[in-house]
Amino acid sequence: MHPELLDTTHTTWRARPAAHQPGWPDPAPLADVLDRLRVAPGVVTPAGCDDLRSRLAEVAAGRAFVLQGGDCAETFAGVRSDSVRDKLKTLLQMAVVLTYAGSVPVVKIGRMAGQYAKPRSSPVETLDGATLPVYLGDAVNGFAFDAATRTPDPRRLWQAYEASRATMAMVDDYAHNGYAGLDQLHRWNRDFVASSPAGERYEEVALEIDRALRFMRACGAHTDELRSVNVFASHEGLLLDYEDALTRPGPGGASYATSGHMLWIGERTRALNGAHVAFFRSIANPIAVKVGPNTTINEVCAYVEQLNPDGIAGRLTFITRMGASTIRDRLPDLITAIRDAGPPVAWVCDPMHGNTIKSNGIKTRALPDVLDEVRGFFEVHRTLGTHPGGLHVEFTGEDVTECLGGTAEIRPDDLPTRYESVCDPRLNRSQSLDLAFLVAELL
Ligand code: PEP
Ligand code: CO
Repeated sequence: MHPELLDTTHTTWRARPAAHQPGWPDPAPLADVLDRLRVAPGVVTPAGCDDLRSRLAEVAAGRAFVLQGGDCAETFAGVRSDSVRDKLKTLLQMAVVLTYAGSVPVVKIGRMAGQYAKPRSSPVETLDGATLPVYLGDAVNGFAFDAATRTPDPRRLWQAYEASRATMAMVDDYAHNGYAGLDQLHRWNRDFVASSPAGERYEEVALEIDRALRFMRACGAHTDELRSVNVFASHEGLLLDYEDALTRPGPGGASYATSGHMLWIGERTRALNGAHVAFFRSIANPIAVKVGPNTTINEVCAYVEQLNPDGIAGRLTFITRMGASTIRDRLPDLITAIRDAGPPVAWVCDPMHGNTIKSNGIKTRALPDVLDEVRGFFEVHRTLGTHPGGLHVEFTGEDVTECLGGTAEIRPDDLPTRYESVCDPRLNRSQSLDLAFLVAELL
């Protein structure tokens, strides 16, 4: 392990500028919460982080695919078994389609159990003439538009921790209690999605897998391993006080952020001399950096040098979020530079954040743009002979109307019908399946 990763004090970040940190009104309650977090049990274990890193090494080597997804912003109100189960259903249905089509292992990572803090483009929001602090995620303030709710409250950091623990427990329960087994394929498809074109197509895949399972059992193969799955937790590691307080030494002495298995640095906080890069350098988790259309070759090379100096496979992932109209222009140079530099990284496509538009004043994304960015991602990798390693998406398990398009088409007039996201618009389950089928064809 690189000496920097053995730095259990992980304090170097404090000397660097930290972008997008909340302006807490009072330091005393913040210090109190951080003291409690410093001695609380982690949301995940260092061993779980190592397990994910070794799976991501397979992705970087071109032998596996990542599916990472969930809400843009989780909410405390969303810590409910039905909501967590439905998100898991979306993830599992997509993963089944991808595994079946690609015949490669799919590493399943939720944007779940910790995705409670958001960087925003403006610090304030104006509504009906009143201006208040913008919503920064449930870990910082509340969504309701009133001055008290929008004031950052550090006690929310503790709630975010508890919400993460509760969500992780639900995810583990569903993943291992038989619910996520391959003999449950039809059960995941029983609600609104069943009648959508994507749901019907899914049912055909599920029937073929049933036949394959019956065949395997008839041959005497043990199919017990197929009764549970591993689902890992990830979030943007935005709030450095929180992340720092949950950092613990692992058995080998290296420091791990125990708030989630994988943390990523967002597009807005990836400054090379900034506090986020310094903090991420000091933890041993698998990590990712989101890279947008203005990312330079020098920057990606510097991330590799600073964040993965020893070239550990699975340690570093780049999540590209270029936009459908720019990915084919901007991505090739970055990939070429990294490929020639040597150490393996995984490339994952986020086709959501570069394609946000407004329709009648409502923030949305059109599925055709999302699909086009994914197509561009695969085209670029195919041309360069590199591995399109995965997909990073914002989705929910519910029948929301936040993104346009899909085989069960959502039109601009439908958007207000069920728009529930507190931040970015998410694909609903049938749109998520549409996307999975497209990727399956590309795989
Ligand atoms: C996000 O993932 O919700 C996000 C803010 O993305 P990005 O950092 O890519 O803008
Ligand atoms: Co988002």
